[in-house]
Amino acid sequence: MLQDSFGREFHYLRLSITDVCNFRCTYCLPNGYEGKPEQTFLSLDEIRRVCAAFGAAGTRKIRITGGEPSVRKDLADIIPMVKATPGIEKVAITTNGYRLPELVDQWADAGLDALNLSIDSLDPGVFQSITGHSRLHELLNGLDRAIELGIPSIKVNAVMLRGLNDKQFEPFLNWLKTKPITLRFIELMQTGDNSEFFARHHVAGEQLRLWLLDNGWNQALRAVDAGPAQEFYHPDYQGRVGLIMPYSKDFCSTCNRLRMDSTGKLHLCLFSDTGIDVRPLLKSDDQRDELIEFLNNHLRDKKVSHFLQDGESGGTRHLAMIGG
Ligand code: GTP
Ligand code: 5AD
Ligand code: SF4
Repeated sequence: MLQDSFGREFHYLRLSITDVCNFRCTYCLPNGYEGKPEQTFLSLDEIRRVCAAFGAAGTRKIRITGGEPSVRKDLADIIPMVKATPGIEKVAITTNGYRLPELVDQWADAGLDALNLSIDSLDPGVFQSITGHSRLHELLNGLDRAIELGIPSIKVNAVMLRGLNDKQFEPFLNWLKTKPITLRFIELMQTGDNSEFFARHHVAGEQLRLWLLDNGWNQALRAVDAGPAQEFYHPDYQGRVGLIMPYSKDFCSTCNRLRMDSTGKLHLCLFSDTGIDVRPLLKSDDQRDELIEFLNNHLRDKKVSHFLQDGESGGTRHLAMIGG
């Protein structure tokens, strides 16, 4: 089992397959994608080797991330390949939903276990002002189709933004009465590029947590391969509420995940200074055990926590770089 020097075990890999994104979320890529077009993303064979090594080392869940993963043409091959990896029990994806209506049937057929979809507002105008896209209606249809297809875990992400979507809590909760999904409110995180935006729009989740507990919501237990959200359920609601509060005390003590970026760099934390190049170990299938040893050696350097509370976001300019 991959383990760090604080005894944390890594059951969960976040695997970015591209850093390209076609949205312009105000907190992430307000000017759109500005990356280098000449960089080469991990090939299908390289992705297969990453998954094989992590699966053999005890990882049970792989989340495919971006940028926006559905901009990659071979995503249809990647999902079943990840799913077929020995040891990997769950394959998940995080998407902005742009191509969801068109692709969700294919993803379900390929055995996708979990879908996370970003929807920062249920109001089309607010959605467009935050993401730069007007496809909310199509995206909600795609979400309903995902529910109909029975994808086992469906979550919606909404980043809480002071002055932009903070009047949306009530419509979101009403919506959740009949939607069998988990809606997570995420605290905005400061990254290298968004300091000013962060200062204007960050809202802490603690008040919302207290409100939920006062209003009949109960906190659920956390699974070993769960992400960072605290989840709450209520007898009158089909949906659950999740809170992702990276600025809260002890947030990192339950860290169970590692990240591979789209060019084959291992990130020990979302906010690490640099990635560690593993590409030289992805040239042939024979290198699997060497790669596992390499991972184990580097894990000793994983720090106890991020330093976001001190305004330190490491080398992370925006989350599209690593996939959040
Ligand atoms: P589940 O596996 O479904 O729980 O997913 P998740 O919440 O880990 O994944 P998702 O891609 O939907 O990310 C939701 C938010 O959580 C994003 O803003 C991520 O950047 C953030 N997040 C996920 N893991 C970490 C982490 O280790 N540290 C921090 N600070 N944020 C994280
Ligand atoms: N802070 C919090 N969440 C963010 N996301 C992107 N950038 C940030 C940020 N700075 C969210 C997206 C998506 C998920 C992968 O990360 O909205 O739901
Ligand atoms: Fe794209 Fe996600 Fe960043 Fe929005 S948050 S610009 S959808 S990578």
